[in-house]
Amino acid sequence: MNLKDHIRHVPDFPKPGILFYDISTLLAHAAAWAEAMRQVKEAVAPLKPDLLVGIESRGFLVAAPLALSLGIGFVMVRKKNKLPGAVVSHSYDLEYGSDTIEIQEGAVAKGQRVVILDDLLATGGTMTAAVDLCRKVGAEVVGTNYLIELSFLNGRQRLADKGVGVHSLMVYD
Ligand code: PRP
Ligand code: MG
Repeated sequence: MNLKDHIRHVPDFPKPGILFYDISTLLAHAAAWAEAMRQVKEAVAPLKPDLLVGIESRGFLVAAPLALSLGIGFVMVRKKNKLPGAVVSHSYDLEYGSDTIEIQEGAVAKGQRVVILDDLLATGGTMTAAVDLCRKVGAEVVGTNYLIELSFLNGRQRLADKGVGVHSLMVYD
């Protein structure tokens, strides 16, 4: 099965000139989604994580079911002001302006091995920020995983510069 056959290409979304790789069609196809999750599990299990971290929102779609399947916990990294109680925040620069992500205090214990998951790696800005946030709370980030990687945006190099590995199921050049 070629997983790429289940990714819909939507031109000019969310802006003119951008080609959007839509995972909705993969999620909606039971056999293809099961095969994608099987492949993600195969890549993540050898890293022996204590916990999986998913990035809001589409990262949750991958991280939560995989955590269940591996029999480990799942922790959310969310955009600011979404998580209740005490949180740890990390702000990072965007092309225009900045953004903030948060994790709940105590969600990860110091020294725990975490794999961070997202649906897609583009510039790596989102994942780099999530790595910084996880490290801030004392996690050991043992890898990152994506369904899709847009290799021409060089996110992989940006993560390598942070000393973090990248594994993706589908690469688009
Ligand atoms: C998209 C995608 C990744 C991120 C990748 O999320 O799901 O999280 O962008 O881009 P980057 O590597 O350049 O940072 P988006 O912010 O669109 O939000 P969503 O997941 O909530 O839809
Ligand atoms: Mg996202």
